[in-house]
Amino acid sequence: MSLLVAITGWEPEPWAERFRRVMPGRNVHLLGESYDPAAIDYVASWKHPPRALANLPNLKVLFSLGAGVDHLFSDPGLPSAPIVRVVDSDLTARMSEYVVLHCLVCLRQQRRYDQQQRRREWIDDRLQPAAADMRVGIMGMGELGQDAAQKLAMLGFQVAGWSRTPRRSVHAEMYAGADELESFLRRSDILVVLLPLTPETRGMIDADLLRKLARDGAFGAPYLINAGRGGLQIERDILTCLDEGSLLGATLDVFEQEPLPGASPLWSHPAVTVTPHNAAMSSPETIGRQVAEQIAAFENGEPLKNIVDSARKY
Ligand SMILES: NC(=O)c1ccc[n+]([C@@H]2O[C@H](COP(=O)([O-])OP(=O)(O)OC[C@H]3O[C@@H](n4cnc5c(N)ncnc54)[C@H](OP(=O)(O)O)[C@@H]3O)[C@@H](O)[C@H]2O)c1
Repeated sequence: MSLLVAITGWEPEPWAERFRRVMPGRNVHLLGESYDPAAIDYVASWKHPPRALANLPNLKVLFSLGAGVDHLFSDPGLPSAPIVRVVDSDLTARMSEYVVLHCLVCLRQQRRYDQQQRRREWIDDRLQPAAADMRVGIMGMGELGQDAAQKLAMLGFQVAGWSRTPRRSVHAEMYAGADELESFLRRSDILVVLLPLTPETRGMIDADLLRKLARDGAFGAPYLINAGRGGLQIERDILTCLDEGSLLGATLDVFEQEPLPGASPLWSHPAVTVTPHNAAMSSPETIGRQVAEQIAAFENGEPLKNIVDSARKY
């Protein structure tokens, strides 16, 4: 059995080392090394170069090393093997930390106090809404959205979720599909985006959508948190909405172009928090072990878990 590690954008060596440790006796190759393409049974990929996997005649499973799989579907030479993505409690917990942190930064107006501190200003105007006064709307109620909803609800936020197909949640009021999107937006003071990037969702966080968010909340304008994918958002529209006041602020972990170019006005906008696409990192430790366990189970005749639907593209 041979595994090919095909990674760009992250250091591939720690992944290869981890796979060698959890799969002793198996061959682990890095892209660019010499190997027999016919001997490759499995690939572990993060943003592999286009067409790099086109000639692997015996490929059985393609593992995405992240929860998102848009990096795979952008490859015109993608092999037809089943795709398995990451679903990991550690990654999910990290994403919920990020979402809860930035909902609280908004609720507790921390950016305003940071600025006041820098100016040595003691202004306590007592405008301090409770979490229960704040309506959070989560776009994407999958593995990540559901966990974030539960943790936000525990803090008292009023949580709603929006998904493609109707879903039930004990933590969130649920909306689904294009027909219910506007009602979902109109009741949301904080919009949390945890959608996958697909042909349907690309570019949907635009001015038209942002202007439909609630304007009757505690702060009079809504707040955006995008930790899904940069391709979901139109950055010039976010800037327009911030500058016209239809958006109070934004926390962005993902960008149309990554790394975010130095010339982007998002870096210095006083109402924007930028993080470098690290809301929830994939760890070689846990994900290496998961891939090894999935391969062992698969070779034992058990079904693969977390298979991606290649028609839906997530
Ligand atoms: N920033 C980071 O560090 C980071 C880390 C990990 C993941 N991510 C991103 O987070 C995304 C979500 O991960 P996940 O594990 O929660 O994915 P998931 O379990 O597949 O859930 C995706 C959710 O989005 C909904 N959805 C998909 N297409 C939709 C559409 N056209 N309209 C409405 N809803 C739609 C799905 O609806 P249904 O429930 O109806 O299927 C589902 O609720 C990943 O794809 C990745 O891009 C980012």
